[in-house]
Amino acid sequence: KSFTEPFRPQYHFSPEANWMNDPNGMVYLDGEYHLFYQYYPDSTVWGPMHWGHAVSTDLVHWEHLPIAIYPDKNGWIFSGSAVIDHNNTSGLGSPQNPAMIAIFTYHDPVGEKEGRVDFQTQGIAYSLDKGRTWTVYADNPVLKNPGIKDFRDPKVRWYADSEGNGKWIMSLAVWDKISFYSSPNLLDWTFESDFNPDWAAYGGVWECPDLFPLTDTDGTQKWILFVSINPGGPQGGSATQYFVGNFDGKTFSTESSETLWLDYGADNYAGVTWSNVPESDGRTLFIGWMSNWQYAQIVPTHPWRSATTLPRNLELVKKDNGYLVASRPVKEIEKLRTESITVSGNSFELENELVELLLSPNQEDFKIHISNDKGDRVIIEKSDQELKIDRTQSGFIDFSTEFPAVHNAPLHAIDVKNIRLFIDRSSIEIFINDGELVMTELVFPTFPFTNVNLEGISDSNTLHYLNGIW
Ligand code: FRU
Repeated sequence: KSFTEPFRPQYHFSPEANWMNDPNGMVYLDGEYHLFYQYYPDSTVWGPMHWGHAVSTDLVHWEHLPIAIYPDKNGWIFSGSAVIDHNNTSGLGSPQNPAMIAIFTYHDPVGEKEGRVDFQTQGIAYSLDKGRTWTVYADNPVLKNPGIKDFRDPKVRWYADSEGNGKWIMSLAVWDKISFYSSPNLLDWTFESDFNPDWAAYGGVWECPDLFPLTDTDGTQKWILFVSINPGGPQGGSATQYFVGNFDGKTFSTESSETLWLDYGADNYAGVTWSNVPESDGRTLFIGWMSNWQYAQIVPTHPWRSATTLPRNLELVKKDNGYLVASRPVKEIEKLRTESITVSGNSFELENELVELLLSPNQEDFKIHISNDKGDRVIIEKSDQELKIDRTQSGFIDFSTEFPAVHNAPLHAIDVKNIRLFIDRSSIEIFINDGELVMTELVFPTFPFTNVNLEGISDSNTLHYLNGIW
């Protein structure tokens, strides 16, 4: 595999060719992290959806595998999740060889064309050979449409109450709310409750929910609900909001009272967490689609479109004004470091295009200029209690009127202590204070970035050059 095309991400996952959107069905099994994804193998724009597939033993290096799930008589295969049915509740595997079960949305294009409202339903497929081959369940769909157009993106997890009684819980995006369903066996589903507080962000349709517990360093556990929305994100277009609260097996209640965004950049959408991560690992692992529906289908890449974000582990952090979910690049990324340099002064050159930078501000406000000799530049700035990234002169920008913009993120009460930046061939990811504030942004410089200029930043910083993964 060469992966040498212009803008081809060198340490982010992308399909070899053609269109990708949401990551789907992330599940860990026997030493492998599985990544499925919304895939259209016949074009570089969105179309009839399949589940593409890749595996990794370290979340960083990926092996592309054949398409896992194809459209069938019930429709195209939209987003969803995967679980390991350890107790063989479904009867589709055995206790010795539990089934890997994918739960996804069928989108029936015929029903849609006919103007029906019930063309999205939930189906399942299972694999008994570590995700290599899949069998579609004969009695699909397992959850029929109750008469609402947007009824999709099931994220399923096992939930055990304090007596140890367990059941499967499905979070489902239903137009402008999240509906929770329960099941003893992944085959029969019962409606439990809806969640849609009036103060949440409703600029667009709700998509790709995820419900999971997180525990902070004091041992306090909260349940987190992710809801991706498109449009209506803080930078326009798509983004992921989240709620901090409690889930009692039937109902999610939130203690948040304002919209929280997982990532304030323009390009992190539809991300959800891995299931079946071993307790001995204990991390909550996340990956997102590194694009935005505003321009995802017209970005200047060929013969593929879209990549995923860096894999991140999610942490619950208590702040003076409540809890937030921090996203941190997984530690496995550090294996890519090839050369580490202490750079002094406020201006230095980059000799490699794959870069990780660790910076410490020494003033209230700061500015980071990343540029090349062709005049392309990205400016990251903190001022007026906001973090800003300006990609208006970042290189190729005019494929979309929405792409060239300055994106602002409120710092809330965050006092910036450290800045970690990752530069790949067509992306910049900024992590403030170990991921308390994150901005993920696509950029298409006409030439690699070669210069860094700093203001308000300490004059001793760390620069790591990174290896590519392909
Ligand atoms: C989110 C989304 C999902 C849907 C999928 C279709 O980006 O719109 O709601 O299942 O993409 O590809």
